[in-house]
Amino acid sequence: VENRQDFKVADLSLAEFGRKEITLAEHEMPGLMAIRKEYAEAQPLAGARVTGSLHMTVQTAVLIETLVALGAQVRWASCNIFSTQDHAAAAIAVGPDGTPDDPRGIPVFAWKGETLQEYWWCTEQALTWPDSPTGGPNMILDDGGDATLLVHQGVAYEKDGKVPPVETAESDEHRVILQLLHRTLGENPRKWTQLASEIRGVTEETTTGVHRLYEMQREGTLLFPAINVNDAVTKSKFDNKYGCRHSLVDGINRATDVLIGGKTAVVCGYGDVGKGCAESLRGQGARVIVTEIDPICALQAAMDGYQVTTLDEVVYKADIFITTTGNKDIILAADMAKMKHQAIVGNIGHFDNEIDMAGLAKIPGIVKDEVKPQVHTWTFPDGKKIIVLSEGRLLNLGNATGHPSFVMSNSFADQTLAQIELFTKPDEYPTGVYTLPKHLDEHVARLHLDALGVKLTQLRPEQAAYIGVDVAGPYKADHYRY
Ligand code: NAI
Repeated sequence: VENRQDFKVADLSLAEFGRKEITLAEHEMPGLMAIRKEYAEAQPLAGARVTGSLHMTVQTAVLIETLVALGAQVRWASCNIFSTQDHAAAAIAVGPDGTPDDPRGIPVFAWKGETLQEYWWCTEQALTWPDSPTGGPNMILDDGGDATLLVHQGVAYEKDGKVPPVETAESDEHRVILQLLHRTLGENPRKWTQLASEIRGVTEETTTGVHRLYEMQREGTLLFPAINVNDAVTKSKFDNKYGCRHSLVDGINRATDVLIGGKTAVVCGYGDVGKGCAESLRGQGARVIVTEIDPICALQAAMDGYQVTTLDEVVYKADIFITTTGNKDIILAADMAKMKHQAIVGNIGHFDNEIDMAGLAKIPGIVKDEVKPQVHTWTFPDGKKIIVLSEGRLLNLGNATGHPSFVMSNSFADQTLAQIELFTKPDEYPTGVYTLPKHLDEHVARLHLDALGVKLTQLRPEQAAYIGVDVAGPYKADHYRY
């Protein structure tokens, strides 16, 4: 009964709406629903205590309930201050058998529009397991790596016996993290070390989080094994590309309702996300210009028919600017100062450092005004305004509802299978970063074919022998790029 209050969401009365959308989403997520059936009896996640840090959306609700259906206990936080869908969070807190007066769901700590303090508090709550021997989870499911980062920083500072002074923080967010770790070190100097001791592994959703994992592996600081879910083919070649193709224009439309046709749009970065974004804008009739630093991706963009040039060349004349790089300082304050009146500026990469929001705020005489939540105008001293979406955070989740269910069914089927791999086969995954075995990747794709009426051609044994594969797959070598 005590545990009933072990959650924090915006408004429990939204649970019924959330449940209705979850039910609709289940039909659009055939991969996850098939996995529920496939593993109903085996319960491979029985005994797993999964801490999730991933956008608390309707689709994520279906993922959470899949993990539970496979035997896991779950605690959850969102991985972005603007990405929670409050009705989905409410439905998860209430649970399928509860009511707003008698919530019986899952401990979830997420609401749309958290402050940075609240965000890191939520992450800490999701990582704190009241009834566990270590006080923590034994599995992490991460998106962008914030839960993994908190554990690793906590352990590192506990080893030193001290946390760097708050004054040395490099950003507002870093200051909040340092404050949090100063507090936990005071309360329990071994909190994070204890907590990390039973973690069997982390499965990481996105490009940016995966970068962090490989960096820790290189530096020798990685504490437990990790599966790079992002580089499953059925994740990055689908979610990053087709997901953004859907949700980028959805975000721009809901935020501004500006006609995209005929406008000039600049997409910075032509990786998986950039490819989806460029196609999305072109689909609306925009003239799309791409910027790239990688000659291969630049050539791809040119072959796909886009003009490829530098931001400097076009910053004066374009109407819409979208960053997709996962890199920092892509659009600087000085660039925004050169843009046209009412140019739209948004980011769809994981973190908010692609657009220099701090620099923008420091321009003398600039005035920020809220049009509605997650849509702001910034008026320069000469009267020119630009429109910035989601304060520079990922706009498809801040201004719209992120990727739709069908594509997330692929990503989250990969996530679920990766959780099962790490949890049930610890001996096969010593500390390091792995990708999902290809047969599982192909399995996930297969689970989505029927729903689209796809009829697959059956490979004949002689043909299989001729191209050197098994009739049942995998059909490609690991180095094949799709
Ligand atoms: P990627 O590595 O495939 O693509 C990024 C591209 O940006 C690369 O081709 C790189 O050469 C280019 N780039 C880097 N610095 C640049 C610069 N200064 N100017 C122009 N181009 C530059 O990565 P991916 O998978 O496309 O992901 C990009 C970001 O989007 C990551 O932060 C990822 O976590 C995030 N993401 C966001 C999603 C969403 O729903 N909002 C979905 C999936 C990923």
